[in-house]
Amino acid sequence: MSKSFENPSDPIVDYCTKVTVKQTEAEKELEDATIKKSSHYSMLGAPEVLQFGKNFIHLIGAKRVLDIGTFTGASALAWAIALPSDGEIQSFDINHSSLKSIGLPIIQKHPDLEKKISFNLGPAVEKLDDLIAKGEAGKFDFAFIDADKENYTNYYKKCMKLLRSGGVILVDNALWNNDVTKDSSTFDETTKAIDECNKYIFADDSSYSTLLTLGDGLHVAFKK
Ligand SMILES: C[S@@+](CC[C@H](N)C(=O)[O-])C[C@H]1O[C@@H](n2cnc3c(N)ncnc32)[C@H](O)[C@@H]1O
Repeated sequence: MSKSFENPSDPIVDYCTKVTVKQTEAEKELEDATIKKSSHYSMLGAPEVLQFGKNFIHLIGAKRVLDIGTFTGASALAWAIALPSDGEIQSFDINHSSLKSIGLPIIQKHPDLEKKISFNLGPAVEKLDDLIAKGEAGKFDFAFIDADKENYTNYYKKCMKLLRSGGVILVDNALWNNDVTKDSSTFDETTKAIDECNKYIFADDSSYSTLLTLGDGLHVAFKK
């Protein structure tokens, strides 16, 4: 499994993307600019995953969102489009260079969307701990985990604290180019961390969950 923009020749992926993804002009502009200008464009959130997340935001009436891993801001922009006008996104990254040079100039053309997003610079584990310490546990509706894979299980645990009952977590890259299906003795640290997170979620009695073959794997968890 891989992201649709990395695998355009797969007829199933191509068909599903065509009859699933409804991008706004701003989303398309940001995706195109990232692919054109960033050598790390494969980090871009897959449009089919962002569509799925936007649908969940509508379904559960989400207002407050955690976006872990900003990059050029594609996921933050998607959540801003789906949220109501009083919605709020806390987006986290240790590096804002791609955001500033590629994503922000596009997002700033849409002040109604930009005002919903707070771009926080720093390690996401610390930032999530700060929110928990400030009494924000149980007050978020939706979380997208898409930063350093070594912290995936940490992010899941902290997001579970920060989400209300009925809140949704999407964990991206959960199949990591199918590497998790290989012999575990061959896993590198990243694959090991993703595999551990998938198994932690499966064993977690405080959520209902499903691992989907969407994008390059998406683990969906609903807080009980
Ligand atoms: C896959 S990209 C995020 C893609 C973005 N969600 C999107 O939809 O396009 C991962 C991002 O995580 C960031 N990152 C890596 N380690 C981090 C950390 N410890 N805390 C916060 N962000 C981190 C990287 O700088 C990178 O921009």
